[in-house]
Amino acid sequence: QQVPVITVDGPTASGKGTLSSELAAALGYHHLDSGALYRATALAVLEAGADAGNEAAVAALAARLPIRFELQRVLLEGIDVSDRLREERVGLLASQISALPAVRAALVELQLGFRRAPGLVADGRDMGTVIFPGAALKVFLTASAAQRAERRHKQLISKGISANLDSLRADLEARDARDMQRSAAPLRPAQDARLLDNSALSIEASVEQVLAWWEDVQ
Ligand code: C5P
Repeated sequence: QQVPVITVDGPTASGKGTLSSELAAALGYHHLDSGALYRATALAVLEAGADAGNEAAVAALAARLPIRFELQRVLLEGIDVSDRLREERVGLLASQISALPAVRAALVELQLGFRRAPGLVADGRDMGTVIFPGAALKVFLTASAAQRAERRHKQLISKGISANLDSLRADLEARDARDMQRSAAPLRPAQDARLLDNSALSIEASVEQVLAWWEDVQ
């Protein structure tokens, strides 16, 4: 029997990460944060001083990403880079290089490797459409741009980082547009995805909804 997979795709700051890690914890499953792979590739590009427009060079860095996930932390060559991966410039570069087909191709095997017993919750943009098209449950998570900007704003403020709500919103809308309009694995719901708009839902309520769907498909 195949190891079960739940995919959670959606736009920037829709709450995919939180929902997915809570789901994985509730089910005792592994969790793949695929955005972290694109972010880690972006960080590798910055550290190597590589040309981000050179598709082959970026893909080569992605193909031998010395990445490990341990206890909710991301290690690159054994060094904890979790906080650096969240930096704006890293997110922005991740969004740019993720449009390059060779970079996406270089990360496929690595992502498939996360499918291990007893199960996997995978979050990103193309988990249900490209990486795990046979997943037993596919969720497409959305929230209004205003809500998403508000959440991101609160997150930054709580970390003591000052931020401007309007520019955060403009930034996430630009990122969504780039993710949706690219030709390689654009952001869109899989045909058989269940849509969840969590604009007015608590994290607990969202988790409960997906767990109810999961019961449903068993
Ligand atoms: O989800 P997160 O914001 O960490 O992802 C960083 C960037 O990586 C996104 O802006 C998106 O462009 C890209 N990404 C992707 N495919 C995925 C996950 C992330 O293209 N499966």
